[in-house]
Formats: sequence, structure tokens, C-alpha cells
Amino acid sequence: MKKVHIDASKSYDVLIGAGLMREVGPRVKSLLDPAACMLAADDRVYELYGESVSRNLENAKIRTVTFTFPHGEQSKNLTTYKALLETMCERQITRTDIVVALGGGVTGDMAGFAAASYQRGIRFVQVPTTLLAMVDSSVGGKTAVDLDGGKNMVGAFCQPSLVLCDTDTLETLPPEEYACGCAEVIKYAMIESEDFFRNLEEKPISEQAEEVIATSVGMKRDYVTRDEFDTGDRIFLNFGHTFGHAIEARSGFSILHGQGVAMGMAAITRAAVKRGLCAPEVEARLTALLKQYALPTEVPYTADELISAALSDKKARGETIRLVVPEKIGRCRVETIPKESLKTWMREGGIA
Ligand SMILES: NC(=O)c1ccc[n+]([C@@H]2O[C@H](COP(=O)([O-])OP(=O)(O)OC[C@H]3O[C@@H](n4cnc5c(N)ncnc54)[C@H](O)[C@@H]3O)[C@@H](O)[C@H]2O)c1
Repeated sequence: MKKVHIDASKSYDVLIGAGLMREVGPRVKSLLDPAACMLAADDRVYELYGESVSRNLENAKIRTVTFTFPHGEQSKNLTTYKALLETMCERQITRTDIVVALGGGVTGDMAGFAAASYQRGIRFVQVPTTLLAMVDSSVGGKTAVDLDGGKNMVGAFCQPSLVLCDTDTLETLPPEEYACGCAEVIKYAMIESEDFFRNLEEKPISEQAEEVIATSVGMKRDYVTRDEFDTGDRIFLNFGHTFGHAIEARSGFSILHGQGVAMGMAAITRAAVKRGLCAPEVEARLTALLKQYALPTEVPYTADELISAALSDKKARGETIRLVVPEKIGRCRVETIPKESLKTWMREGGIA
């Protein structure tokens, strides 16, 4: 088992290893000692793991109330969020109780936001079951739901009390969901470390999942520690996301988050090469690595179709928008551009 300790406004451990799900109850009991817990999971994850986690919590003498909802990004909205809060209220979850988010980033973001806001904030534990949630969304304290007008438009910063990544759960993850997690791992390598990038080229992530998760979480920890509230260099974690979020939203979420991020990273890198900001070799290696992990690199929409979603991105500031642009593998920089030139960047990135 590996452990990454995070020191943000709250200190907590991220534990990574096989079989951790069987330890949820005892670990939560000894760390937080809640009388009751709201266990939130989507329908697919609940069917696979919900009952055993619930039993495990009950065996640790934690009264466990469950809330399930239809899987997928379409559920990450105010309606599901409200239903979860109403259930917490009806089932008498109190301020000393906790929320356990069991599942991928959709569950973690939405249940985390419920924990952040219910009775002005109660503690929560993340039990991520997708690679994407283990390497990224369960760590760092960004919680949110989507509005019709854009992704993650309403939420809060709220760090979990504990993150338990049971790598055994990756065995049931569908391949395209596994690939989505690989996209976020490749993002860390692009912004942070050529050595890590080379390692991903040479050895499949699936053969070194525990190490790759710990390395990725360690990289995210450093950004979160320096810039917990996203006013400075935490923006680098958004490499590929400005175009990626727009692509995901334009597809009605039939394109998955990680797939959108992969396309977004490829497109912004093509634009950077066109502008002479990085060498063509960077684009060639990134595209090859994305393909190696079964991720898409071409954007199936036009710039006209994406522009309004991209402009409502949270990285917009007044009349400008900030883009994270690669300089070389392992290093990016932030370009602040006028909003009206975003379409030109998209076209230079091969978006028609
Ligand atoms: N908060 C953050 O910092 C942050 C960072 C990155 C992404 N995100 C958010 O995360 C979300 C994407 O997360 P995701 O990719 O985990 O999506 P997800 O939560 O929708 O999970 C993907 C799918 O996999 C299924 N699933 C989950 N675990 C499984 C398992 N072990 N076996 C079989 N099926 C399983 C789910 O039912 C779902 O259908 C997006 O909403 C994105 O905005 C947040």
C-alpha cells in the first residue's frame, strides 16, 4: 500500500492499494468516529460494491443510509444534488456524521458538494473506483455540479478527510473508462515530468497502477498545497481542459471527460506547434502516447460549434481567457489571450 499525505486547509491521507474497500468501516470509525454515514454511489457502482461497503460500515457500528442515482455526467446536476440533500435531511444525518462518496468523479464531485454545503459543511470520505477519480478528482477538494450553461459551474472547495483508492476496483472498470483515467495521467506527465512521460511510453499504466496513481496524486498534491483555491498555478492542472470541457458539453456528454481532455491536449499542442511555442516532436510524442492508451486526438466539432461553451469556461477573466500551452514535454506555460482570438487557436489546433 502507498500513502500520500496532503497538507491543505485540512490535512488528510490518500491511501492506495489492493483490498482497501474491505477496510472502509474500521478506518472511517477510527479516524472520524461518526454515528452515521450517507453512502452515495451511482447505480452501476452500487450494484458492484455498494452492499459490501454498506455492510462494512454497519459492521463498524456506523448507521449507513444509502443514496443511488443513474450513472453518468447527466446526473451531476442540481436535481440529483437536491435529492441527495433531502435524503440526508429525511434520514437525520447530523453535523457530526459523514458522507462517503463511492464511485467515479461524478459521485465524488456531487456528493462532495453535498457534504460541503449540508448544514454548512460536514466531513466526507472519498472512495474512488475509477482511475480518473483515483489520480485526480478525489484529491484536492474541488466539488461541484454542472449547470445547463456549463460544467462545474456551482460548487465549493472542500477537502475530504480521507481518500481510499482500492486498486482492485479497477478490474471491473470498462476499458474506455480506464482510458479516461490514462488521459489525466498523461496530463500530469505533460505539465510536470518528461521522465514520467517516458515511463508511460515504456510500461503500460495497467502494469504499474499503484505506482502511477501515487505519482499522479503526489504531483496534484504539490499544486493543491501551493494553490488550494485555484488563484495561481493550479491552472496548470487544466491543460487540455478548456477545449476538453467544451467538447464534452457539445457532445451532450456522449464524449467522456477523459476523451475530451485527450482531444483538448492534442488540439492545444497542435496550436502551440503552429505558433512556434513548442517543437513538432512534442505533438508527435503526445499524439502517439494518447493513441497508445486508446484515446482520441481529433476533435469531431467545428470551432463555431465549440466557441460559446469554451468561452464560458471558468478560466475566462473579463475579456481574456487563460490557456495552458506546452513548451516541451514536462513543461507548460499560461498564455492569456483575448477572447476573440480563441477561435483562431482552435483552428490552429486542427478544429475546423
Ligand atoms: N474535482 C476534480 O478535481 C475533478 C478532476 C477531474 C475530473 N472531475 C470530474 O470527474 C468526472 C469524471 O469522472 P469519472 O471519469 O470517474 O466518471 P464517472 O463517475 O461517471 O464514472 C465513469 C463510469 O464508470 C462507472 N464505474 C465507476 N467505477 C467503476 C468500477 N470500478 N467498475 C465498473 N464501472 C465503474 C460509473 O458507473 C460510470 O458509468 C467529471 O464530472 C469531471 O468533471 C473532477
